[in-house]
Amino acid sequence: MAAVIHTEDLAVSFDGETPIFEGLNIAVEKGEFVTLVGVSGAGKSSFLRVVADLIPPFKGSVKVDTPDDPTRRPIAMVFQAANLMPWRRVKDNVTLGLEGIDVSDAIKQERIEWTLDLVGLKEYGDRWPYQLSGGQRQRIGIARALAVDPDILLMDEPFGALDAITRTALQDELLRIWRETGKSVLFVTHDIEEAVYLGDRVLLLGDKPARIVAEYPVDMAREGRRESDAFARRCEDVRSGLHAAIKAAAGKD
Ligand SMILES: Nc1ncnc2c1ncn2[C@@H]1O[C@H](COP(=O)(O)OP(=O)(O)O)[C@@H](O)[C@H]1O
Ligand SMILES: [Mg+2]
Repeated sequence: MAAVIHTEDLAVSFDGETPIFEGLNIAVEKGEFVTLVGVSGAGKSSFLRVVADLIPPFKGSVKVDTPDDPTRRPIAMVFQAANLMPWRRVKDNVTLGLEGIDVSDAIKQERIEWTLDLVGLKEYGDRWPYQLSGGQRQRIGIARALAVDPDILLMDEPFGALDAITRTALQDELLRIWRETGKSVLFVTHDIEEAVYLGDRVLLLGDKPARIVAEYPVDMAREGRRESDAFARRCEDVRSGLHAAIKAAAGKD
């Protein structure tokens, strides 16, 4: 299988001296769902941003291998806050990412319908953001990312601000969308259960400077995964890995 994201010895630094993380070698395969956990401040968001080419590498490289298509973007991001523009209707928020690329009105319309349908808000295009619940706003954030038909979805704690029930529902929706679209997903969370439920594998980012300290394959069907003993055991593995990483980093303060 071909990797769509491939980092080699990647480091990011904000002061040009001290790396936030270094030596990151990660490959995400086409169609894979990879989750990344780590303590707050470890560098998870910075990692997504360097992959999205929003900040430059300090060392090493990021390669993104996706087909060239002027009507699409290779990568789209979803953040913890949906950041909808209150003065634009839902459908005009969905098409925000399309504004820099050359797509016809027909394609625009198609993408609005396709993505609103995918996130289960087909009838909401003409509403205003203030008329949506928190979960619905987050769904629109996902629709906006999907509207550029990216090969890769980068998600930075997208469900972190939602209540537990909405969060569980959105996790299942995201898995359905992922299956239906075949996108590759790199999903950051500090919630271990979420990481193990969603991921084909879980990467653990240690601290100071951050690097991938462990990788946990999750070879379980998603159907019934949350309820299985194997799921609870895998969560325990990740939890003890995370605690060990925190301890190791504390020694370096
Ligand atoms: N734009 C920036 N300028 C300087 N330091 C930053 C910037 N963004 C993040 N940092 C620092 O980099 C480290 C990693 O941050 P971040 O990637 O946001 O971690 P996480 O997402 O894992 O919580 C933190 O110490 C943070 O303060
Ligand atoms: Mg972050």
